[in-house]
Amino acid sequence: MKKPLTVGSLKTNGTFTHIRRVESTVQEKVKEEVSAGTGMDWDRGLTSKTSTVYLTQNHKMYAVYPENNQSLLDSALDQGCAIDYKCKKGTCGKCRVHIVKGSSLLSEPNEQELVKLGEQIPQGFRLACQTHMK
Ligand code: FES
Repeated sequence: MKKPLTVGSLKTNGTFTHIRRVESTVQEKVKEEVSAGTGMDWDRGLTSKTSTVYLTQNHKMYAVYPENNQSLLDSALDQGCAIDYKCKKGTCGKCRVHIVKGSSLLSEPNEQELVKLGEQIPQGFRLACQTHMK
């Protein structure tokens, strides 16, 4: 009779250890690619792609892949990035992020961003809920 598969049986054959090892390797690749040297905490690591937007918020760095017809915030949330937000309307400013790499992949700032961020835009700040992928 075949023994039923349980969570405990997965742990003993090393499956979880293997997943952790792969995640760790991926995170190292992303860190190397950005090589920001900012001392940021990494919330999440993703495999390296040329069309990736790297951003920081609250001393954490995130890698977000472009998703057509979605805001940067929604793409990030769909991909498991824990970006802070509140209104999703461009009024609260809670979703403000600093774009480290990949700004050329993003739409031009809209009216809400111009009003809310003003001179912070040339410094690389965007409202994730108002920013879309090109
Ligand atoms: S969530 Fe409020 S401005 Fe983006």
